[in-house]
Amino acid sequence: MICGAAAKNIPPIKLIKNKKKKMNTNDLINKAINARENAYAPYSKFMVGAAVLTQKGNVFTGCNVENASYGGTICAERVAMCKAVSSGERKIKAITIVYDENNFASPCGICRQFIYEFGADIEIIMAKLNGEYKIKKISELLPDGFGGGLIN
Ligand code: THU
Repeated sequence: MICGAAAKNIPPIKLIKNKKKKMNTNDLINKAINARENAYAPYSKFMVGAAVLTQKGNVFTGCNVENASYGGTICAERVAMCKAVSSGERKIKAITIVYDENNFASPCGICRQFIYEFGADIEIIMAKLNGEYKIKKISELLPDGFGGGLIN
């Protein structure tokens, strides 16, 4: 596990392909914090933001979108993942999640399974609103996970 604070000078997350688009942890967390502002959470009042970093270096953000039929609610992580995949990017490097100032955001079980589909090594950056974060691989958050090998 890696811990840090976005406010400090954090080294960039290593990007595998596109070195022109450098995205560091701090930037990615800020994108998730901004996306959280769009959360549609009239029922739970619990606002969540997420930002996916693809291996090409592109970022796709998401927020939770609730529904009066509660089961129709979709989490911020899956919104961001679906935006990446539906834009043609399945190779995911990292996803950051943020919800409040007191807790490191942690993806729900459904989101863990959903993320795992796109690779056991995806880095999950669990952040607080003040920029503190910890990082674990999705395989650590979903040990002995099902699937995870059919992304191409
Ligand atoms: N939520 C997320 O967006 N991501 C998670 O990983 C946990 C839960 C949302 C769903 C719902 O809109 C609200 O938070 C309360 O569960």
